[in-house]
Amino acid sequence: MKKSLPARYGQWAVVAGASQGLGAAFADELAKRGMSVVLVARRGDVLEDVAGRLHANHDVDVRCVTLDLASPDFASTLADAVADIDLGIAIYNAARIPIGSFLDMHEDVLEQVVRVNVRGPLLLARAILPGMRERGRGALVLVSSLAGMQGAARFAAYSASKAFSTILAEALWAELREQGVDVLVCCAGAMPTPGYLATTSRAAPGMLAPEEAARQTLDALGKGPRFVPGFINRISAQFMGRFLTRRAAIRLIDGSTRHMS
Ligand SMILES: NC(=O)c1ccc[n+]([C@@H]2O[C@H](COP(=O)([O-])OP(=O)(O)OC[C@H]3O[C@@H](n4cnc5c(N)ncnc54)[C@H](OP(=O)(O)O)[C@@H]3O)[C@@H](O)[C@H]2O)c1
Repeated sequence: MKKSLPARYGQWAVVAGASQGLGAAFADELAKRGMSVVLVARRGDVLEDVAGRLHANHDVDVRCVTLDLASPDFASTLADAVADIDLGIAIYNAARIPIGSFLDMHEDVLEQVVRVNVRGPLLLARAILPGMRERGRGALVLVSSLAGMQGAARFAAYSASKAFSTILAEALWAELREQGVDVLVCCAGAMPTPGYLATTSRAAPGMLAPEEAARQTLDALGKGPRFVPGFINRISAQFMGRFLTRRAAIRLIDGSTRHMS
């Protein structure tokens, strides 16, 4: 029988970007599987609500860390917040997702994309992986996107930042897999989260509930480096990568995201 997550990796997990959507779903699924959870996001009051639900439903310990992952010193603040616990799983889920013409995008917004989507996972990985390697066990999940598999018009900076996360996770998987640390990139497709629903009310093909995406991703720990939640999403990722030219894939994405704003 497969060991439980706490037995495989350690008692605690941290979810960066845990107040809603996929991050809250990860926190719930981790708690359901017996992990104590550190919740990180900017809105402390919303985090407290999530924490209350986790504690009530699953009777696990929960800590809230109110933190902006774009802030210069977020990694040391987070490292201090988890210094006294057996950190087994870390999930970097937060993202800045500006939509629209690249040329109309303010430089400050682009800077935020780099801070939250590129610098964030990079420094979180650097902060928590040494402890996992020392203990000889642990797991890191970087949440990426199918949008990171090719350039996506109107999501230029976002799709490029997700390509960064995907490649970073693949490299870390190779560096750490013989040292007991599982690294996985979750290349998610569309999910009806508050972030997604703020941009469009249309359902996308292969759309998956965030709870299902979180469940499948945690099941895939140890089977890295890359995981695409959802059967239809996996088929379409294979199809786009193997049978379409880059040009055709980029144009297909362009057509499918025109209604988003
Ligand atoms: N939904 C989709 O269709 C879809 C598709 C592919 C990939 N993804 C990926 O899935 C992940 C989650 O997406 P989602 O749709 O669940 O997003 P969401 O509904 O917008 O939620 C984002 C979460 O990240 C937190 N967050 C954002 N910026 C932060 C910051 N600077 N510091 C700390 N926390 C921050 C938010 O909390 P606060 O606002 O409280 O800080 C919130 O908990 C992202 O990486 C996204 O790229 C989503």
